[in-house]
Amino acid sequence: MLTDKLCQVAAEAYGTPVYLFDLDRLQQQVELIRQQLPQARLCFAVKANPFLLPVLSRWLDRFELCSPGEWSITQQLKLPQDKLVISGVYKSEADLTAIFDQPGDCLPEISLESGEQLALLNQLARRRQRKVSVLLRLSSGNQFGLDEADLRDILARRQACPYLRITGLQFYSGTQKHSRKIIAEVARLEQLCRSLEHDYDLPPLALEYGPGLAVRYFSDSSRSADTAEPAAPDDLDKSDLVQLQVLREALTQAGCRRQLTLEMGRFLAAACGSYLTQIVDLKTTRADHYCIVDGGIHHLAYYGQMLGMKLPPVRLIKAVPGAADARPPAPADWTVCGALCTVNDVLLRCLRLTRPARGDWLCFDRCGAYSVTEGLSLFLSRNLPAVASYSTANGWQCLRPATAIWPLNQPQAPV
Ligand SMILES: Cc1ncc(COP(=O)(O)O)c(C=O)c1O
Repeated sequence: MLTDKLCQVAAEAYGTPVYLFDLDRLQQQVELIRQQLPQARLCFAVKANPFLLPVLSRWLDRFELCSPGEWSITQQLKLPQDKLVISGVYKSEADLTAIFDQPGDCLPEISLESGEQLALLNQLARRRQRKVSVLLRLSSGNQFGLDEADLRDILARRQACPYLRITGLQFYSGTQKHSRKIIAEVARLEQLCRSLEHDYDLPPLALEYGPGLAVRYFSDSSRSADTAEPAAPDDLDKSDLVQLQVLREALTQAGCRRQLTLEMGRFLAAACGSYLTQIVDLKTTRADHYCIVDGGIHHLAYYGQMLGMKLPPVRLIKAVPGAADARPPAPADWTVCGALCTVNDVLLRCLRLTRPARGDWLCFDRCGAYSVTEGLSLFLSRNLPAVASYSTANGWQCLRPATAIWPLNQPQAPV
């Protein structure tokens, strides 16, 4: 976790609000997963946090992309095509054409989610006489992927698509999953792969699986007014090892020896991120204490956090030791609100703070996954926060300066 001192240096260098990513912590997480699941290839779901790609491209095996924008980011960063897997319920002809027409020998692997996608890809590959590897995405009961019957139908007719090389299955059924669900899924996927190999005389199928491992964000699930202390990030980390052990055991029990790729976003990225926002006002209105910060709910996304009812890991960093603007001087419970013009902009309720002052910072930890990508960025035309990373080897590096949003919300036509 970034120390208070490091956060203070970053706030002064980049301004607030700001996203801070601790690359040493990220590396630790990658190493933990590698140690527990050495047989698996690791794939990062880029949607969780594209800013981590410069380092993750060196540490991981694969990158799952779900939009043309994500693909463009990987092209700018010169990620090798054969490290990419393209998912997505909608892949347009123009987007797939751009991928096919990229110079170089390799193509990314592409997941097929419908008969329509199969026909389009087959046509593009045949026209160029280029073979492309595909994964058949198995649906988990929503708009993504194919059901088993359609998947079997494609396998039965695969000779008609000689430019498509079916390498395996892709499956992702959601995030923050319970171990019980993961155990059942692993057993079912292994069984299905075996049955398909048998029925269609296939070589061993690869399995690209998003286990949706859970990240703990909150000290308890049913927060009451007297639990105003946030949990320490180290305590929240404790479930990580257990989940990896459960997954390893599930794979062993299922007898899974095929090529396995684990697609992960949250579990890889959450723990390395912090969001720093400055206290800009403190007031007591009708006996309630309000702490106003320069960020807000448009920048922070904790899974399951509704209207500030739960307490993620957060700490007060003093700008001037001992300084206090606020009454009451004793510890009190504060409602932390952002700068947006809506009563919904409540980051936390009942946060116990001792003598906060304007100019101090609140640092929200464990927000390295999805906060930077899921925010309501355009609402109220406020700036996008800067993004910076830290590692012991390279110190602070700016990955994006604070960026004005208002030009995007400005009408282009003359009045
Ligand atoms: C296909 C796919 N794989 C992997 C992930 C990553 O999920 P998580 O962040 O729960 O690890 C997602 C997230 O939406 C996804 O859509």
